[in-house]
Amino acid sequence: MLNRKTLGAHSALALLSLAVGHANASTTISPKQLAANELRADKAAERTLAKMTQEEKLAYIGGIGGWDVKPLTQYGVPQIHGADGGAGIRYTSEGNDPGVVYPSGPNLAATFNPQRAIDFGRALGYDTATGGYQFVTGPGMNLYRMPWSGRAFEYLSGEDPFLGASLAPAVVNGIQQRGVWAEAKHYAGNDQETNRFILDQAMPERVLRELTLPAFESSVKNSTVAMMMCSFQKVNGEYACESKHLIADILKKEWRYKGLVQSDYNAVVHGLPAAQAGTDLDMMGGQMNSTVLKPYLDSGELDMATIDDKVRRILKNIYLYKFDKIDPQTTHDMNSAASNKVALNIAREGIVLLKNQNDVLPLDKAKVKRIAVVGNLAKYAPPTGFGSAHVDATHYISELSGLQQMAPNAKVEFLDSLSLDPAASQWTTTDSKGNTVKGMKTEFFTNANWSGDPSATRIDSHVDMDWSTDDIPSNGDTANTSIRWTGQVTPTISGEQVFKVRADGAVRVWVDGKKIIDNGDGENITNKSIPPTIPESGKITLEAGKTYDVKLEYSRRDGYLSTMGGLVGVQMAWASLAAPQDLSQYDAVVVAVGNSSEYEGEGFDHSFDLPEYQNELIQNIAKVNPRTLVAMHGGTALKMSDWIDQVPAALHAFYPGQNGGQALAEILFGKVNPSGKLPISIERNIEDNPLYADFPNFDNTRTLKDLSYKNDLTMLGYRGYDKTGTKPLFAFGHGLSYTQFTYNNISVTPGVAVGNTPIKVSFDLTNSGQRAGAEVAELYVGQQHPKVERAVKELKGYKKVFLRPGETRRVTIELNDRSLAYFDEKSKQWVVDADSFDISLGAASDDIRLKGRLVNPFRQELSTTTSNPLPRSALKSTKVSQSHDNTGGVFEQTESENESSGNSEYENAAY
Ligand code: BGC
Repeated sequence: MLNRKTLGAHSALALLSLAVGHANASTTISPKQLAANELRADKAAERTLAKMTQEEKLAYIGGIGGWDVKPLTQYGVPQIHGADGGAGIRYTSEGNDPGVVYPSGPNLAATFNPQRAIDFGRALGYDTATGGYQFVTGPGMNLYRMPWSGRAFEYLSGEDPFLGASLAPAVVNGIQQRGVWAEAKHYAGNDQETNRFILDQAMPERVLRELTLPAFESSVKNSTVAMMMCSFQKVNGEYACESKHLIADILKKEWRYKGLVQSDYNAVVHGLPAAQAGTDLDMMGGQMNSTVLKPYLDSGELDMATIDDKVRRILKNIYLYKFDKIDPQTTHDMNSAASNKVALNIAREGIVLLKNQNDVLPLDKAKVKRIAVVGNLAKYAPPTGFGSAHVDATHYISELSGLQQMAPNAKVEFLDSLSLDPAASQWTTTDSKGNTVKGMKTEFFTNANWSGDPSATRIDSHVDMDWSTDDIPSNGDTANTSIRWTGQVTPTISGEQVFKVRADGAVRVWVDGKKIIDNGDGENITNKSIPPTIPESGKITLEAGKTYDVKLEYSRRDGYLSTMGGLVGVQMAWASLAAPQDLSQYDAVVVAVGNSSEYEGEGFDHSFDLPEYQNELIQNIAKVNPRTLVAMHGGTALKMSDWIDQVPAALHAFYPGQNGGQALAEILFGKVNPSGKLPISIERNIEDNPLYADFPNFDNTRTLKDLSYKNDLTMLGYRGYDKTGTKPLFAFGHGLSYTQFTYNNISVTPGVAVGNTPIKVSFDLTNSGQRAGAEVAELYVGQQHPKVERAVKELKGYKKVFLRPGETRRVTIELNDRSLAYFDEKSKQWVVDADSFDISLGAASDDIRLKGRLVNPFRQELSTTTSNPLPRSALKSTKVSQSHDNTGGVFEQTESENESSGNSEYENAAY
């Protein structure tokens, strides 16, 4: 069940329109201050290290309490508290402070705006510090490969390494400026959840260097990230946390990483290779401890210097951030107005308008009198994914509430009859006196299979129970608990009806005597560290006005979770799949579809199909109302091709965070002109995904153990579509605005590359439409005669530019030597061939507007240590500027501006 607490509707918008600032000034720390602390930190670390015994050191490199670094009280070093979560802070070892729920990683990626990434980092850092924590286990920056990916919603790279490399350090810089450590995760290659504890990824070196690593490399080189989390799965036969190649050679030697490497939770399988590879902190300490490691020290197989280096790294970073001196904050200002504003601004720029036929959007407030809203996702807190990144919103603006507040004079009606909400589903049953009453008869059994007489019987108004909070008749024996519900439904619309059950166990549903749901023995999927509770749906054709029997049988199973978006309990809902004829009378129907923490999250991969027969629902609605607007949700692409031609407008909202309802409504009504671009490709059919042959199905059942990355270099995302010529439904980089942009007069200077002299690609960008808006201009580079396999083109720069109607600006995007380079497996260096390079500039990967050319006359070799995946100007945009408070910007239009199609205002996410 989604969180049902609602924020007083009007107060919410009022809150977010204020010029805001944190109640308590929080600590900030600049890179300059950190540099000034270096010497002291080095010395202090050496001093403490010198005092520590071997046993103390071995104990110190294992974490404590789930997320923490152990205290060394005897040396004045405090416990270091970690806060978990990617999309916001989830309470961990101390306190109980769920923070602001920010938009998901793909939303941030879709902004194509490092400024939003800095804002996000600063806000997340603030939430971390104010909760009394010294680090946050984020940001996540793995690549998106396939729509199966359970954790894609956490990651900010989309399907492109340059996009990740440009945003990741911006987030890290923002977080660390708050005086807390950021943690880049998951190093490396955690691109899917399929069998993450055993999966072995065969990854050619070039795929590793050119696709998988740049976001991490950039976080090290451009933001001196304090922590790095090594991931669960294997890369080329070695567990990531035990990979000398990944950690000792690349991260620590080549990139000169000075921070500490923490294992993902119990990701260290073998203590010795992990210690030797360079993992510094074993969270939770099950392997890198005295019992496992001391014998190797004694035998000489493991060097004490290796352990010292780990302790030194941890201590040095503690002293660097002065955690030994500064008392943790206790203000617990976890839902600050400023953080809310940041969440709102990311959503405003990170919701992508995919289709807008005949300019059906934006809706006109003056003309729209009645709007229908369909889909439970619109009714409560905007959805988010399941798992360690899940945060429950304490305050939120639902999409329904956002629409109601945006159009106070219109009737915005939520259609319960078409929405699967357990709290609103209507049932009838017969009470002990034989009267028909609302609800379902509920019989409780103290055995697993509904046998004998029930131990208790009652009538429940809805099937919506939660073992962790509700008073439920039970003897507490999970293995011997079954419940049967019986009652009737009387549909109001003839046609197919969907029944949905979400439960921590075995469930079967009969409607009119026909079994339509049966999940077998109800055991959770086997690849579980944090098991999700995934619903089941079934459908049946019924007639309006007739009454049908319904029976649900449920037998409880152990091991499910009540937290992180899971459920221990049972919920059942039903709704019509057929649209009522009077739906034609609405000026618009907004249908909220897609995934949520019920279907998508950590530990498991998911289907490409929309759940709950939503594809059919959309088509049925579109048949009745031609003004059907679809808002998709989820961290990935989902199947849209079967209905997209039948609706005039669609958006991908991803998971837009706790204020996503406001952002979506502002976009639908044109108060905000959309400027998000897709950080992923959306395929028509899953088979069209260029990597489909290498990963034809997700698998949570522990059978798939090997995954090949052999084709990724030229087949991942838009690289693959370019190569095969297959057209995606919506291409990487696509995103519509309510205005139009034209590109003219490209110049490339110098046209001949010399060393690392920045190459400037300049062009005129004009807002040729009627409204103020922002365009993301995308710059792709392709080598003309590559000697090695290379993608047709690769994103190497972008710029988001805000323009008033009619305004033209000369825009410059810089390139550097790495923009042209590939990783040479022989010399183990980056190489730029002597060749010509195509410069393609455009509005999307499939919408190139201008072409240029660049010549590199002499082959160049670039060091893996000093070369940078970011050109100078992109690097600059990752830095927190002194005047940060004045540089925030979204593209919200005031009412009068909309009316006159005139100016736009930049609104600030001020601290
Ligand atoms: C996840 C990490 C997370 C950790 C702590 C692990 O299962 O992979 O991303 O930070 O749990 O909750």
